[in-house]
Parts: sequence; structure tokens; C-alpha cells
Amino acid sequence: MSELPRDPRHDPVLRDEVVAALAIMPGERHVDATFGAGGYTRAMLAAGAEVIACDRDPDAIAEGQALVEESDGRLTLIEGRFGEIDRLLAERGIEAVDGIVFDIGVSSMQLDRADRGFSFQADGPLDMRMAQSGESAADWLNRADEGEIADVLYHYGDERQSRRVARAIVAARPLSRTGELAAVIRKALRHPPGAPKDPATKSFQAIRIHINGELEELVAGLCAAERVLRPGGRLAVVSFHSTEDRIVKNFLRERSGGDARGSRHRPAPVPLARAATFHPPARKVRPGKAEEARNPRARSATLRSAVRTSAPAWPADDRMKEAMSC
Ligand SMILES: C[S@@+](CC[C@H](N)C(=O)[O-])C[C@H]1O[C@@H](n2cnc3c(N)ncnc32)[C@H](O)[C@@H]1O
Repeated sequence: MSELPRDPRHDPVLRDEVVAALAIMPGERHVDATFGAGGYTRAMLAAGAEVIACDRDPDAIAEGQALVEESDGRLTLIEGRFGEIDRLLAERGIEAVDGIVFDIGVSSMQLDRADRGFSFQADGPLDMRMAQSGESAADWLNRADEGEIADVLYHYGDERQSRRVARAIVAARPLSRTGELAAVIRKALRHPPGAPKDPATKSFQAIRIHINGELEELVAGLCAAERVLRPGGRLAVVSFHSTEDRIVKNFLRERSGGDARGSRHRPAPVPLARAATFHPPARKVRPGKAEEARNPRARSATLRSAVRTSAPAWPADDRMKEAMSC
């Protein structure tokens, strides 16, 4: 499979480092929880794995069919949310896997297509739904109250002027195009034309994270991975945002027997009531200078990985609450 050509549309961030973290042995079964344009899946197939790949975006699944045909029966594509990857696998008779990788966030394809409504640079419908179903960004922005919008912008976009932006959005309603929303944000933040960083960046990111429930999905996905990895199985997670990375870091720290809160200013950790489900995580990996120069998107990427122990997965009730303690 090593002869498969690289897909020129996509340069997957930290691809070699992810394959190294998964430590694939030929014939093993691995999950690519975020198929996208299939960059990781190609590399995993080339390393000899059987791959089950999942994406919630029907376009990603449709465009991946060509790779399924090239893969000699070693690739299965599933449309669905990785927060329920264990159920999606069980439906196909798979109870345990050797590795699972998550590449969190939006794909280049989603960003590049104006009609998907993720981009503030190209005008399109104000959509932002990865799964192409449910409430769109326009639906939400046109019905939510000002305080709710401000909270989303502040928490998911680190937008310090969230109240000012939320007020401007509410005053400009109804909104239906990404171009309109970007203009409202730029005006609210008095953006001088040609300034290097577009002030719409943070708000667009925040609205996208909210519309797709991305942080809740990340927690659910980590917990599902804990349930489906065999003892000795490998987990690798690439994230692009400090809030996401904190969730991954806290989850791995907690599940490997450390204090999920991880602050010396907090009270001493309560002794762990349950056996660790992961060995202590590997050191985090960041892209090298060459990758950052080649691919600006790589600049904010962090890879974290860990190996599953044989301890039972933690019970469902505690998972969401404890993993989110960040
Ligand atoms: C950063 S891209 C992945 C790129 C991929 N690693 C590659 O090499 O082409 C993230 C992908 O994950 C998908 N995605 C995001 N959240 C998801 C979720 N909760 N369940 C399933 N897929 C999800 C998005 O639709 C998108 O296609």
C-alpha cells in the first residue's frame, strides 16, 4: 500500500508523528476517527493497518470512496460521530481495536468550500454544520439571546470583546451569509482594512465549535476510545486549540493516575479511586519548523498520545464531569 500517491489537496498535520505514536504493526486494526481528506488513513494503510475511518461529514465519506476502492478491502468508511465510535464499531462486530487517532477540528475541504459556510474569507450561506444536519449557524445566531452569544464567543473563541460583538450581531439580525457576519464583527471591533489578523477569526471559530458541539464530542470521543482500545492499544490526539488540548491533557493525566486539575495552586489530589486506564502519556509533540513553514495551519497543533492499560473503562456517570474538569 506504500505506493498510494499522497493526496495533493491535503497535507495532514503531524502525519509521521501520528503514525509513530500509533506504532502500527502490519495486520493490526486501527481507527481514524476524523477521516477528512484521508491523509492519516492513507499513511495508516501504507503502514500495513486495516483501517476503520469515521467522519460526520457526508461529503468526506462520499469523496473517500475512491480510497476504499484502492485499498484492497483494508478500509471501511463510516459516516457518524466519533463520540459514539464504540457503538459504530460494535454494530460491525468489532469490540476492540489496536489504535485510534483523532485530528480535531475543521478540514481544509470544509474551510475551502464557501458553500459550507465555515469561512469568513469567502462569502457563503451561514451554515458551519459538519454533519450538514441540525441547527445552522444562521438559525442559532438569529434566535439566541445576546448573553448566550457573548458567552460562546468568550469561552470558545477567547474573544475579549465578546459583549460588544454579540450586541452588534443582535442589532444586525437576521443574518444569512458569512460575509455579512464577518462585516458586522469587523465593524464592531473597528477593524482597519488590511490589518494582519482578521478580527472575525475568533468569533467564527467559537460559533463553529458551538454549532458542532465540538468540546462535548471530544470528551465523548476520548471516553469511547477508552472503551474500545484493547490493552496495549494506542491513542493519539491532534488538537489545534488550547481548550481542546487542555481537555485531552486533563483526560490523559486523570486516566493515567495523575491529578486532572494539574495545578500546584489547587488542593492536593484526592487519591485515585479507580485503576488507571492509560499508562503515563508520552511527551506532547509539536510540529517542527519545516512543517510550520510549509503548512501555517500546523502552527497551533499539539499531538498527545498514550497506551491503554488492561483496567476497565471508567463508568459512564463520571466521565463527562471528570474529563471536563479543566
Ligand atoms: C482536521 S479534519 C481531519 C483531516 C484528516 N486527518 C486528514 O488527514 O485528511 C477533521 C475532520 O473530522 C471531522 N469531524 C469533526 N468532528 C467530528 C466528530 N465528532 N465525529 C466525526 N467526525 C468529525 C470533520 O468533519 C473533518 O472532516
